[in-house]
Amino acid sequence: MTDLLLLPGDGIGPEVTAQVRRVAEKLTPDLTLEERPFGGVSYDRHGVPLTGETLAAAKAAKAVLMGAVGGPQWADAPRDKRPEAGLLGLRAGMNVFANLRPALCFQPLADASSLKREIVEGLDFMIVRELTGGIYFGEPRFIEDLPGGGQRAVDTQVYTTMEIERVARVAFELARGRRNKVHSAEKSNVMDSGLLWRRVVTDLHKRDYADVELEHILADNAAMQIVKNPKQFDVMVTDNLFGDILSDAAAQLTGSLGMLPSAALGLPGTPGLYEPIHGSAPDIAGQGVANPLAAILSFEMALRWSLDRPAQADRLFAAVEKALDNGARTRDLGGTLSTVQMGDAVLAAL
Ligand code: IPM
Ligand code: MG
Repeated sequence: MTDLLLLPGDGIGPEVTAQVRRVAEKLTPDLTLEERPFGGVSYDRHGVPLTGETLAAAKAAKAVLMGAVGGPQWADAPRDKRPEAGLLGLRAGMNVFANLRPALCFQPLADASSLKREIVEGLDFMIVRELTGGIYFGEPRFIEDLPGGGQRAVDTQVYTTMEIERVARVAFELARGRRNKVHSAEKSNVMDSGLLWRRVVTDLHKRDYADVELEHILADNAAMQIVKNPKQFDVMVTDNLFGDILSDAAAQLTGSLGMLPSAALGLPGTPGLYEPIHGSAPDIAGQGVANPLAAILSFEMALRWSLDRPAQADRLFAAVEKALDNGARTRDLGGTLSTVQMGDAVLAAL
């Protein structure tokens, strides 16, 4: 059985996952790794961004680590064949409904944020984004021609009690191991799906998690609070689309999108999907300057959440901190190190 399936994908994906491979070979030489094409490269080679074999391999592995998908060269591919559709298919196929996106400010990077040092220093909160439902998957969705000219486009935001409850449960459980506080973000003031979200979270809280502090927050206010006073947050649970947007905002607090990993988890005992939250960054792809730390930290999360190796995860996390402490900086962090040199710095710290 493969321990870790690597899906390097497109853009800077192969560059950053190559550094994960180096780290894994040094830190966990006994792990079995496998690699498969995914995203745009898979579309070019096989006509689809996610082949049946790759999905089967993902479900059979203990953990999957993806680099990034997408790029301008596939902008005109049919929508269901675009690299992003492959990613959505992978998330749905693996049923990884809870996406953990940490917003963590590393001490040596407190000045790298576009926000003032005192706002972000010591920041450590976790967004739990619902990942396999909502408007990303809701039906119907289409663009149609209107008789009088012009077109009409429809997407559907849809949530069931079960979908809301299972992701909220993950958030409450996480909070218990942290600072015991959950913010639940939705737009219950305008959306029925938001109203149901709020009711289900409230009920679950009353039933099973009354010991955890719960606050409901409207998603637009959450966006404002994230840049105004992010340290008030411990765990924030929200839907797929709001989570996509809020997690990008939260990521920038920490200095660079190039720093942040994520873990997508399903039911206990099923493989997790790990991805750096940066995209494929076509503007810098192939130049060897991308920051590999988000991918390396995604591997750290995989060690912790899927591979049952917390001690090695701790070692890797400490090595990343040490490399940063020693002044290792890629371009996104205001430095000059290449992707490989940042990998070197982590290996040296290990
Ligand atoms: C993310 C990305 C993806 C998303 C894209 C690439 C489909 O933005 O993981 O946040 O929207 O979920
Ligand atoms: Mg996103």
